[in-house]
Parts: sequence; structure tokens; C-alpha cells
Amino acid sequence: DTPLRDLAAARGIYLGTAVTGGKLTGGYGDLAGAQFGSLTPGNEMKWEAVEPARGTYDWTGADRVVAFAEAHGQQVRGHTLVWHSQLPGWLTGGSWTPAQLRTLMTDHITAEAGRYKGRVDHWDVVNEPLNEDGTLRPSLWGAALGESYIADAFRSARAADPAAKLYLNDYSTDAVGAKSDGMYALVKRLLAQGVPVDGVGFQAHLVLGQVPASLETNLRRFAELGVDVAITELDIRMTLPATDAELAQQKADYAAVLRACLAVTRCAGVTVWGFTDSDSWIPDFFPGQGAATPYDENLAPKPAHAGIAETL
Ligand code: XIL
Repeated sequence: DTPLRDLAAARGIYLGTAVTGGKLTGGYGDLAGAQFGSLTPGNEMKWEAVEPARGTYDWTGADRVVAFAEAHGQQVRGHTLVWHSQLPGWLTGGSWTPAQLRTLMTDHITAEAGRYKGRVDHWDVVNEPLNEDGTLRPSLWGAALGESYIADAFRSARAADPAAKLYLNDYSTDAVGAKSDGMYALVKRLLAQGVPVDGVGFQAHLVLGQVPASLETNLRRFAELGVDVAITELDIRMTLPATDAELAQQKADYAAVLRACLAVTRCAGVTVWGFTDSDSWIPDFFPGQGAATPYDENLAPKPAHAGIAETL
């Protein structure tokens, strides 16, 4: 069978996966290297992983994923420079002035995006900036600095790695609705200020049978602002145990998401958030749910895999 990454490339998009760097050997590594054209480190580039103490960086995990990608001719999607979650305790437990926070953030971006300069194709510069109603999330960053932190983050990232495509990324923005309207307005404001936003990522952590009908329309309206779009963290969860009928529905759902990206010229690619059910965050975060990825726990392809292959 033609590898999924080649089918995707022939259609002008990439097919990526999140990976766990420590697992990139054996059958897991073989599939990750052979089937996917882009890798996102699932955790290894997050702040708590790379800057465990102030100004002290540990690139071990991130380096491993980047080296694997380079050895397999894959793109890297860097994830993520600025987020409210998975921050180190020294940062969340400190008491900082807004000016100090701004400097901590820009120093971190300069260090991390600088280290991988020219080796990361897409950066999720700011992750999950919005509330469900589309307003700014009062994160460590948003609460202290307001929306201005987003512009500063993108400018710092551009300066550190001019070649990387810089993305804003969020969840529950897949459909047209209050949250995606907020994202749309935010991107418009940033572009009007000359902020170097190249793309918008849609996480697409979806529920079985609930691929939004407006997904393609939504992607297209962002593209028409003059930015790229990408599906960045696709998974489609269901209540366990999965039935054959549910796995068939999941196949149709994966195909529908791929079709939406293929239909929008500026959709750069689709990344699944883990390619095997044995490496998915869903059972840990949504108790009783899972089976959300295209390969089962034993690395055997599921109907969803065929749904992707047939659509590409
Ligand atoms: C998840 C990882 O997959 C888990 O291993 C970790 O424990 C928590 O984070 N949105 C994001 C990702 O942007 O970084 C999250 O990844 C999933 C939700």
C-alpha cells in the first residue's frame, strides 16, 4: 500500500501525527516514520519540558523528535511556545510583574524557536488563547498582559526563525460559532496591526458522528483572510468499548475531515493527535472514552485508516 504521507503529498497537503519521542523505536517508530509526513512532539516542546528551571533548558526530548523527523524526511510542527497549560512550577508559582512576564515569554520564544531555527516548518506560537465565548482567555498571559501578548509572541517567533510558518491554534473553533467568530476577529485584528500570523490551526478533538457541518466553510473564511489553515490535533472519540458500527462511523468522520481540508486550497495539512489508540490522550482526559485514532492498540489499521487512505 502507498504510504499515507505519499498519498497526502500527491494531493498537495501533509498528513502528520503527534508522537511520543520515547516510543520512536520498533513498530511504533516504523509506522510514524513511514506513514506520516509531519511530526508534532506531543509534549516534548512544551514549556515545562524544555525550561524546567528559569533560564535552564533541556532539549533532550525535543531534539530526539526533530532528529527522527530529519532522518525520515519529515516536517516538524513545533508545539507550543505560549500556552496556559503544562507550564513549569517556577513560572506559575512565581509572582511577576506584567513587564517581567512579557520578558520571560519573549526570552523563552527566542531560546526555543532559535534553537530549532530552520528545522521547524510550522510553529503553534500561541495555543488556546480563547474562552468558549470567543473572548480572551484569562491565562497567566492574558490576565497580566491582555491581547498584546499574542502580537509580541508572534513578533518574537518571527525574529527567532524567519522561515517557520507561525500559527495561532485552538480547540472548539472547528465549526462556525461564537468561539471561531472570536478567533476570526482576533486574526483580523492581528493582521491589521501587521502581526506576522501565517496560519490558524484547528485542533479538531471531535466526538464520533459530530464532524461540524460548517468545518469546510469555516476553514475557507479564515483562508480568505489571507492565512493558511491546518487541522492540527485530529482525533475522534467514542464511548468504550467501540462497536463495529461505531468504527464504521469513525471511518466516515475521518474521511469528512480530510475532505474539508482538501477542498480548501490554503489548508496545509491534517495532523492526527496520536496515530495509535495506545498513544492517545483521550482515555486519560475523557474517562470511558477512547478508540479515537486510526490505528488500534496493537498498531493494526482501523477502518478510520482506510477512510483516510481512500479520501487522499
Ligand atoms: C496533551 C498530550 O497529548 C498529553 O500527553 C498531555 O498529558 C496533555 O496534553 N490540546 C493541545 C495538546 O494543544 O497539547 C494536548 O496534548 C491536547 C489538547
